[in-house]
Amino acid sequence: MRNFNFYNPTKILFGLGRVKEIGAEISNAGISKVLLVAGGGSIKQNGVYDAVVLSLKQHGISWVEVWGVRPNPVLSKVREAVAIAKENEVDAVLAVGGGSVIDTSKAIAAGVYVEDIWNTFKGIERIEKALPIYVVLTLSATGSEANPNFVITNEETKEKLGNSSPVLYPRVSIIDPSVQMSLPWYQTACGAADALAHIMESYFTGEGHETALYVDEGLMLSIIDSTDRLLCDPKNLDARANLAWAATLALNGVSSAQLRGDWSSHVIEHAVSAFHPDVAHGAGLAVIYPAWIGHVWMEREAVFHRWAQNIWGSYSMSVALERMRSTFKRWGLPTTLRELGVSKQELPDLAANAASKPLGTVKPLNYDDVMRILEAAF
Ligand code: NZQ
Ligand code: ZN
Repeated sequence: MRNFNFYNPTKILFGLGRVKEIGAEISNAGISKVLLVAGGGSIKQNGVYDAVVLSLKQHGISWVEVWGVRPNPVLSKVREAVAIAKENEVDAVLAVGGGSVIDTSKAIAAGVYVEDIWNTFKGIERIEKALPIYVVLTLSATGSEANPNFVITNEETKEKLGNSSPVLYPRVSIIDPSVQMSLPWYQTACGAADALAHIMESYFTGEGHETALYVDEGLMLSIIDSTDRLLCDPKNLDARANLAWAATLALNGVSSAQLRGDWSSHVIEHAVSAFHPDVAHGAGLAVIYPAWIGHVWMEREAVFHRWAQNIWGSYSMSVALERMRSTFKRWGLPTTLRELGVSKQELPDLAANAASKPLGTVKPLNYDDVMRILEAAF
């Protein structure tokens, strides 16, 4: 048995047509002015922006807009938006988008109360306060809609780092799976790979914790099944809904309760997307995760064989890994670093970036381990 805390205060409004409830949620909290944060414009094309602003207007909420958050969001954008938030004296931040927009919104919400948000990544300042955060989710992948984490890239130093504070749980998140019908297939697949990875990051540390293992197996099977259904029929609303809910549960504390977690694959992937900002996080994980499993599974044979059997239908690890890779391929995801545009000469720098801090619990990894994983993924 392992002692643990479970805490998740985010209120989730899930389902069809629920985006229009955002105004009421914000106004019920006594908030009258928000910073609306968005990405590259997909919300203008799929009607989400119109639904959000109509709801804000109907509830007498004024807003200021910040556009242009890009995938693998960057520190310079956060700093720019913090200045806008302060200048306009907003009472809350409203993220309308995927993980990149939500993570940027969290950084802004905390950033208004510190000297410089990057200091909080480096342990120079602490996050003790933040503006309230509201979310209209448009891409199920990161779980950021219901967790206190955010990941930002410092483009100058090429560091992509995670950060977290209990004050950064969104107050309310609206998840309407139908708004994800406009996603390019590749983003849907990247989201599924990311959600699967979030579960596995905890699952493999789960020996003896049967409830967690059974919950996690159910979530993994549901993600694979829903994504395969969407591959045949991207407009299947039930499959969108199942994938969306599983992705939220994958990183809102449910899948990891009882467990320690490993997170090496995430740290290695973050190095890859820090050096290659055009690499989608889920695509990077589809490449790194199988290579990591290949490197570490012998450390905890029982739980890896259980995963092979219960998720991939074979006790054999080589068959399970082959089935995992061919699932990612079927979904249109890359399976090698080469396909992601990474060159062989870069591998030492990537390994140094990822191994700059202690890494891994399934197997503690040093620079040489990370090099071997990257070479296997190449
Ligand atoms: O820029 P917009 O117009 O919003 O377009 C986005 C973007 O191009 C598009 N998109 C989103 N919803 C759409 C849509 N296109 C059409 N229709 C829709 N409904 O999808 C593209 C990717 O969006 P992004 O937000 O970057 O994707 P994702 O949600 O996968 O977020 C990835 C970021 O989150 C971090 C990743 O490292 C990466 O930086 N992570 C955050 C975590 C967290 N906060 O807990 C944990 C994760 O492990 C992860 O590290
Ligand atoms: Zn992830």
